[in-house]
Amino acid sequence: MPAIIPRVTGLCYGGDYNPEQWPEDVWVEDVALMREAGVTLATVGVFSWAWLQPAPDRWEFGWLDRVLDLLHAGGIAVDLATATASPPPWFSTAFPASLPVTADGRVLHHGSRQAYCPSSPDYRAAALTLVERLAGRYGDHPALALWHLNNEFACHVPACFCDTSAEAFRGWLRERYGTVEALNDAWGTAFWSQRYDDWSEIIPPRATPAQHNPAQALDFRRFSSAEVLSLCVAERDLLTRLTPGVPVTTNLMPTFTGLDHWAWAPELRGEGRLVSTDHYVMGDHPASPAAQIAFAADVSRSLAAGPWLLMEHSTSAVNWQPRNFAKPPGRLVRDALGHVARGSEGAMYFQWRASVSGGERWHSGMVPHAGTDSRIWREVVELGRHLRALADVDGATVAAPVAILLDYESHWAQEQGSQPSADMTCFDEIARWHRALWRAGIAADVAHPEADLSRYPVLLAPALYALSDAGAANLTGRVAAGAHLLVGPYSGVVDEHDRVRTGGYPGALRDLLGVRIEEFYPLPAGATVALTDGAHGHVWSELGRANDARVLAAFAEGPVAGSPALTRRRHGAGTAWYVGTRLSDGFLGELLADVTAGAGVTPTLPGTPPAVEAVRRSHPDGTSFLFLLNHGDEPATVPAAGEDLLTGGVWAGPTQVPAGGVVVLREAAAAAPLSQVPAQARPAAVEAA
Ligand code: GAL
Repeated sequence: MPAIIPRVTGLCYGGDYNPEQWPEDVWVEDVALMREAGVTLATVGVFSWAWLQPAPDRWEFGWLDRVLDLLHAGGIAVDLATATASPPPWFSTAFPASLPVTADGRVLHHGSRQAYCPSSPDYRAAALTLVERLAGRYGDHPALALWHLNNEFACHVPACFCDTSAEAFRGWLRERYGTVEALNDAWGTAFWSQRYDDWSEIIPPRATPAQHNPAQALDFRRFSSAEVLSLCVAERDLLTRLTPGVPVTTNLMPTFTGLDHWAWAPELRGEGRLVSTDHYVMGDHPASPAAQIAFAADVSRSLAAGPWLLMEHSTSAVNWQPRNFAKPPGRLVRDALGHVARGSEGAMYFQWRASVSGGERWHSGMVPHAGTDSRIWREVVELGRHLRALADVDGATVAAPVAILLDYESHWAQEQGSQPSADMTCFDEIARWHRALWRAGIAADVAHPEADLSRYPVLLAPALYALSDAGAANLTGRVAAGAHLLVGPYSGVVDEHDRVRTGGYPGALRDLLGVRIEEFYPLPAGATVALTDGAHGHVWSELGRANDARVLAAFAEGPVAGSPALTRRRHGAGTAWYVGTRLSDGFLGELLADVTAGAGVTPTLPGTPPAVEAVRRSHPDGTSFLFLLNHGDEPATVPAAGEDLLTGGVWAGPTQVPAGGVVVLREAAAAAPLSQVPAQARPAAVEAA
């Protein structure tokens, strides 16, 4: 990845390396094993604060000097953490007010990690002192390839409710609203006697007798995300000033909704910066591991809007789920290459060597407890070989014709409770629509509704509860210009202050969709409602009419019988579709097939067997790499040809992909760019409205 991490050639491979957990003779073995596995990058020092600064006035860098020297001698580059993720016990003992506080007033103490309030001036000062010391000592070290800011900012403490945070929240609100009157208006404090007379009366949404003011709670989440971001930016700016040639990153969690990643990612993009992300497969989950990986990777790529790096995943089991499933043989390689297929510039793990003590001792590592005579180690070595063979993929991008609209703020607003139905989820529904496209083999990005969406012929809005006027105008403009937009139920119904848009739902999108809904009729848990086209809806139904749209299906039973369930309207050069219920996976897949076909969008590789995931990465010069991941138990035949980068062979076509295996082809001829994909005829069922 020459442009991003100049000191690493080809794809990155490695993981979190915590040498302080091991005696020094193990370090020597570690470096030898890293070389055997083909490791190119080690993330060092993530939780080392107490080892670097064991007391306020004592600094101990000798051990880290030796670690970095050893790694460098072994040809392994270092992603050096700023170590600010876990303040040592001496720190919170000296500064008890720096500890985070929950909404119900509980103080979270040291003895774990991330025990700091993001607004604590003492934490910030101590963290930046540590960063400065590290920069001064290692800025010129030849092993230093990348700075790793903190670690998964806010993963345990997305918000703090202490008095210091309350003061900072008030400061943020003053900036946002200017006057208390404007805040009262935005928050709708006429309700329940919540009117504020002075800034000093405003507090975070701490434990209350009944539900919070939704706008207050939403603003507190915005504030909290911004407050943690300011810590990240402070570390970044300090390092950029002190060590200008060394790129910086922090490991985001793309499917963690505690932060507004659309605000975070731009701070980590561009010259000298890198978006990196972590992802762990959930064991008990409706989506398969492969579908989970595809979603996380697509979100990562979209956030990065360019190269990104998978900074953490696991070689096998994690330790923090109710049941921690080991990966079956072969999954290690397939999971890692699933991320690489979707744009990651390598595969990094938590962690290099599995711990023997501490809360994560049952978490897998690249070197498992069993040592190198183990399945995991053999697969780790195999993956290293594959990543070396894929060096030319470095820098190639994935082009997606579909954007799925995702707004973390809207998710926060919708998930706050006191909603028409607790089953009306947001983020999960977005992931479910992504899965439907993934099954169809159609590449998708995610995008914010106010972003530049001009390159996408298809826009999907599975769950866009809160939508600003600017967002609605953007979508309307895109449809007018020719995009095909499909909107899910309960979208556009409130503004950015969670204030209901009156005059009929779906509020901000009512005119574009040509539909006017009067009342929601959520369904009982597990119930379905029949539609006139033979499909069934779940979770949701609604009473209304299509003013200016063609009704493709109506509700067929119950109190809303006759109301529109699926509509379509021509607007300018494009088409606006609306579905007023939640379709089961099968019917959703059919609907998405209609919408994408109507826009001329085809799968990445038509004719791919269902068990095989096909993803293409291309360089600007047209060189393209086709990743074929067979998630099935049988070998598969795929209509593709090219040089097999992992074996060195050539497939004249078709290509055989072993059961559970991966083939990566350097394709013989450049694939047609999206703009050249011929528009397909629309299926008769969806002919002109
Ligand atoms: C991540 C974290 C790592 C480790 C890992 C375990 O969230 O950044 O430090 O805890 O989870 O899965």
